[in-house]
Amino acid sequence: MSDRPISPTRRLEEIPLDAALRPRTLAELEGQERIKNNLRILIEAAKGRGEPLDHILFYGPPGLGKTTLAHICTHEMGVGIKVTSGPAIERAGDLAAILTNLRRGDILFVDEVHRLGRTVEEILYPAMEDYALDIVIGKGPSARSIRLKLPRFTVIGATTRLALLTAPLRSRFGAVYRLDFYAQEAIEAIVRRAAGLLDVPLTEEGATLIAERARGTPRVALRFLKRVRDYAQVRADGRITGPAARAALELLEVDDLGLDDIDRRLLLAIIEKFDGGPVGLYTLAAALSEESDTIMDVVEPYLLQLGFLDRTARGRVATRRAYEHLGIQYPEKPEQPRLL
Ligand SMILES: Nc1ncnc2c1ncn2[C@@H]1O[C@H](COP(=O)(O)OP(=O)(O)OP(=O)(O)O)[C@@H](O)[C@H]1O
Ligand SMILES: [Mg+2]
Repeated sequence: MSDRPISPTRRLEEIPLDAALRPRTLAELEGQERIKNNLRILIEAAKGRGEPLDHILFYGPPGLGKTTLAHICTHEMGVGIKVTSGPAIERAGDLAAILTNLRRGDILFVDEVHRLGRTVEEILYPAMEDYALDIVIGKGPSARSIRLKLPRFTVIGATTRLALLTAPLRSRFGAVYRLDFYAQEAIEAIVRRAAGLLDVPLTEEGATLIAERARGTPRVALRFLKRVRDYAQVRADGRITGPAARAALELLEVDDLGLDDIDRRLLLAIIEKFDGGPVGLYTLAAALSEESDTIMDVVEPYLLQLGFLDRTARGRVATRRAYEHLGIQYPEKPEQPRLL
């Protein structure tokens, strides 16, 4: 899994470089035009009124820019940011400590917001809605609750799983934006900008090749760019050309649609072990020795987008296109019932 292009666990040595490549302003962010237009209005209106931003939720597959957008909002508003995540806040007291340290207008970025515990969420509701913190003092019959006022602040939540967010939490976000996979041109522009920042020469063909295989995902595009840069430096003249990109990506076992080893293993497992499906997620995960979360968050979204995979009432099904891409004869069979 270590070379998985969009593994949720990023490799440590790449973090400083990632930070350098991360767009800081809305203007620097390629693609996601609809979200940028909405955010521009949201930010300008809030600034015009001298008020904090409304609470914002970003959701969508990994590596598309949720964290980046949270930092951009902070930068554009000129406020401070505290970064945490759902699983990191274990007890209600942890959240209370964070909240009481916020200043007016600050942004509290909560990654994996769908993984907040129930008691923590219950502290967050009045905090988001009324900027109040309800604290219970004492135990038993003498226990009483006091209400602390909090400064007005903004929660920016990010999640790859909107469906797992509780309805009350979701309803407290004033703006909810879904990030989609990027168009080819946007990914090319991201690759060109990053090559410029890394000061590495890049040909038109090199940019196109990387972008075509990047699964519409900036994180994957940037990782490929770095790997191709390594390859070009060691095996070629240092320039990222079409042939260098092709050779480097072949070494990474990435095919011309951007599918890599785990994508192919997943499709092959459905086709060969389960007769093309339907097969349930957990059975599939066990057959592949992968986490079901990884399959759902990281692998499936792109296969669904390509139309290689169908989610039916009874499980995952490999489509005719998947067979064709893998060069396997498609067995004609009756349509499966669909569940959306
Ligand atoms: N529109 C963009 N333009 C340029 N670079 C981008 C863009 N969107 C994302 N990136 C880069 O892609 C990488 C991944 O982005 P980010 O960390 O924001 O994704 P994410 O949606 O938060 O992913 P995850 O769900 O895994 O947390 C970062 O290095 C970021 O700099
Ligand atoms: Mg993130």
